[in-house]
Amino acid sequence: MATLKITSATELTVDGPGGSFRIHPIWLRERCQDAKSLDRQSGQRLHDPSDLPLTLSLTAVTEPRPGFYRIRFSDGHEAEFSGAEILREFALPPGDFDCPPLKLWDASLKPLPTARWPESFPAQPRLEWVSEFLRHGFIILQHVPTAPGSVLKIASTFGFTRETNFGALFDVRSTPDANDLAYTPIPLDAHTDNPYRDPVPGVQLLHCLANKTTGGLSTLVDGFAVAAHLKAKDPDAFHILSHTAVRFRFRDARTELVASAAPIELDVTGAVQAIHFSPRLDYVPLLPPSQLSEYYRARSVFDHLLRSAEFEIRFLLGAGDLVMFDNRRLLHGRTGFDPAEGIRHLQGCYIDIDAPRSWYRVLRRQQAAGGGS
Ligand code: OGA
Ligand code: ZN
Repeated sequence: MATLKITSATELTVDGPGGSFRIHPIWLRERCQDAKSLDRQSGQRLHDPSDLPLTLSLTAVTEPRPGFYRIRFSDGHEAEFSGAEILREFALPPGDFDCPPLKLWDASLKPLPTARWPESFPAQPRLEWVSEFLRHGFIILQHVPTAPGSVLKIASTFGFTRETNFGALFDVRSTPDANDLAYTPIPLDAHTDNPYRDPVPGVQLLHCLANKTTGGLSTLVDGFAVAAHLKAKDPDAFHILSHTAVRFRFRDARTELVASAAPIELDVTGAVQAIHFSPRLDYVPLLPPSQLSEYYRARSVFDHLLRSAEFEIRFLLGAGDLVMFDNRRLLHGRTGFDPAEGIRHLQGCYIDIDAPRSWYRVLRRQQAAGGGS
């Protein structure tokens, strides 16, 4: 239960089980839910809160019913607030998406997050699939129909396809004159896809239609876990990789994409926000040799950790298996294969991560309302 009291003209104090919090009057005023402040249909604000007087203060607080507080502001506006809702805001760490906390993992992760696809389209995602995906950064779906194009149907179950110059869907199989090493049989070291795009694709789906080879194992690494390890063990390397903007480039006859990002991207709080790493495509700027020596040492330490048996998981995608992973957190790759052994054919596509996060919130809402998942 929250208790609200005015502790000064410009400060409301909320006492709750987690402690005592002080609130600025404008923070409250821009959260007023009444019909004058908010369009009831869209839930969007009808006024520009930057026009509120910066000297806005509080003049009265009453509790007309338990847990709800009526607050009067110095501009004469009055509104009601739920104490519980204010406490919920305090429980959110800054920048949090009110999604499940990430579970960082290494090679010991067992079992791998896996679910059986219910064999029907269209389907609504299940809360447990979306939760597992957000927690671990990936999920393997089994028994997905192997009809070509099924990956797009799975993608539209979780979000909206991000079309690129490779098309809405790309075929990953060994072809002559490949414009990307993915379309050859050679091994692919741990990488994030398309770091040359702005924004980079948030989520990748790879669906196996056929795999008659004994090689071509899929690999995944939790880039956030490796970055956390690097920060603890080699803070200088972490600092260099999070403060050097590297250029990534893709070029073929019809396309030239260039983007620049730190291999370990931090958010405003200093937390790791994304990994941008592809040893096939990175071009560090022409820095002084001493700085480059430090950069190359840091990149080598990071890359060897990413490829180490301590962090990498390997599994075989068989026909009907699909892996969906967070391309800003996880790195992926594959071992080499011999096309003479038989066909290996994957289809892939991208979506953004905002849609699975939205599903998580909507499915939780449905669950809370008693609708199951
Ligand atoms: C890709 C890729 C992995 C594979 O197409 O981006 O990394 O298993 N493919 O072939
Ligand atoms: Zn890839």
